[in-house]
Amino acid sequence: MLQPKNNQLVLVLDFGAQYGQLIARRVRDLHVYSEIVPCDTPASELAAMAPSAIILSGGPASVYASDAPTVDVGVFDLGVPVLGFCYGQQIMAALLGGKVGHVDKGEYGPATLVRDGASMLLADTPAEQTVWMSHRDAVVRVPEGFQVTAHTETCPVAAMECPRRRLYATQFHPEVRHTAYGNKMLQTFLFGICGLEPTWSMEGVVDALVSSIRAQVGERRVILALSGGVDSSVVAALVHRAVGNQLTCVFVNHGMLRKGEPELVEQVFRQQFDVPLVHVHAEERYASILAGVTDPEEKRRRIGTEFWKVFFEEAAKLDGVELLAQGTIYPDIIESGVRKTGGKASTIKSHHNLIPFPDGVQFDLIEPLDHFFKDEVRELGLVLGLPEAMVYRQPFPGPGLAIRIIGEVTPRKLAILKEADAIVREELDAYNARLFEQTGERNSEHSCWQYFAVLPDIRSVGVMGDERTYARPIVVRAVESTDAMTADWAKLPYEVLGAISSRIVSEVAGVNRVAYDVTPKPPATIEWE
Ligand code: XMP
Repeated sequence: MLQPKNNQLVLVLDFGAQYGQLIARRVRDLHVYSEIVPCDTPASELAAMAPSAIILSGGPASVYASDAPTVDVGVFDLGVPVLGFCYGQQIMAALLGGKVGHVDKGEYGPATLVRDGASMLLADTPAEQTVWMSHRDAVVRVPEGFQVTAHTETCPVAAMECPRRRLYATQFHPEVRHTAYGNKMLQTFLFGICGLEPTWSMEGVVDALVSSIRAQVGERRVILALSGGVDSSVVAALVHRAVGNQLTCVFVNHGMLRKGEPELVEQVFRQQFDVPLVHVHAEERYASILAGVTDPEEKRRRIGTEFWKVFFEEAAKLDGVELLAQGTIYPDIIESGVRKTGGKASTIKSHHNLIPFPDGVQFDLIEPLDHFFKDEVRELGLVLGLPEAMVYRQPFPGPGLAIRIIGEVTPRKLAILKEADAIVREELDAYNARLFEQTGERNSEHSCWQYFAVLPDIRSVGVMGDERTYARPIVVRAVESTDAMTADWAKLPYEVLGAISSRIVSEVAGVNRVAYDVTPKPPATIEWE
């Protein structure tokens, strides 16, 4: 779908690998386009896609198991270079007359690879190097015409190749960063062995996505729920570039966004892009459905249900809308646990069924980002001209500030939290910017990944001037993380914490104390509710 004009395409055949998309991703990082397809795609279909190279991914199965995934053996006779990793190496060996054995002791984690003789794939890498292993089975006899090019202490065939047929394979995982020269091997394969050129770019992707959206939409009208988050914003900008005013964006303002966010959405989409935008002021409606509710899960449930109600009410007011655009990205698909392999993705309907379409309502879906990782989506956003504040927006939960106000959400509490949160973000945005300047990395050591204010449902005593106060505390939460699965509290310099604290108590009426949350996840979670 996104194949560049020079037709360079690397197909990754997916055997159910944990790292399948990661391989495609590494290839794209080297500026060659790559897509993942199911491993059982017939060789004739693969040939029709005219790939420049094929990579066989790893996978959890055992090649001789009765239900083991396999590949059309014709793949090895297409005249296209093939590179196999882990299970990919084993299936290559098994199908071409070699032998795979079940080893008693699996090998998981780093291992020292020792090269054996000449190798095209391992050229330009040291005689001994660290690689990442994750396997139980291994090749014990290579097929005729192959030579063993490396071993480890427990794995006699850690890499093999048959240069005459342009077939290469490794037992280890070059796509994983822990394999020190993995990227070098991929470069050698793509540019040295396959003769490709690093010409693929995000600008090219935007062009390709735009034409494919145009073809899918035709003359029809599209609707999109804009949240102000990165994914829905990028889809809005893309679809708008493709079909202009055939797109209507509906922005449901539930009143629990952070200070300045509704204004940013208006400014970017109405003013900068001139997208038809319906800004639904649902603040009062939400205030009433949340009145008296203190249970966090109940808050989430009410906010989520109401969101789709409001959205479909607006959709019903628009004539002839047949398509719904969504910012589903690749990790969403993985997390939903429904579509396991990227290649099969297009044939299986998944978590979209979770959108509670009202009775009798159905839309065709447009999901242009479903092959991409978050940071690729950010790059697309920059190419499309979205502002950095939107593109690098930190994760923000759908239920918004409601789950950062412990206990009942009231307009007064919301107002306090918005002000305090704006100060936390201002100070920590500046802190992150200073670290970025020093390191050139956005998520460098000790930079904050997510940071915000929380309003607990208590008051404490303080003193201001000669007066005793009995007011609210604010808890500052700032974490270092990469994926939110685990997190550590950010080791912020005392001056930064001091600046946040003194600004909050002097600028936010109703707050007389600031505390810093120093708990990692686990055992705590990032959010307080
Ligand atoms: P926790 O609190 O579970 O959060 O450590 C992990 C990540 O998920 C975000 N989060 C949510 N996102 N709806 C969302 O869209 C939610 O209900 C929700 N709860 C937590 C949280 O901000 C963090 O990035």
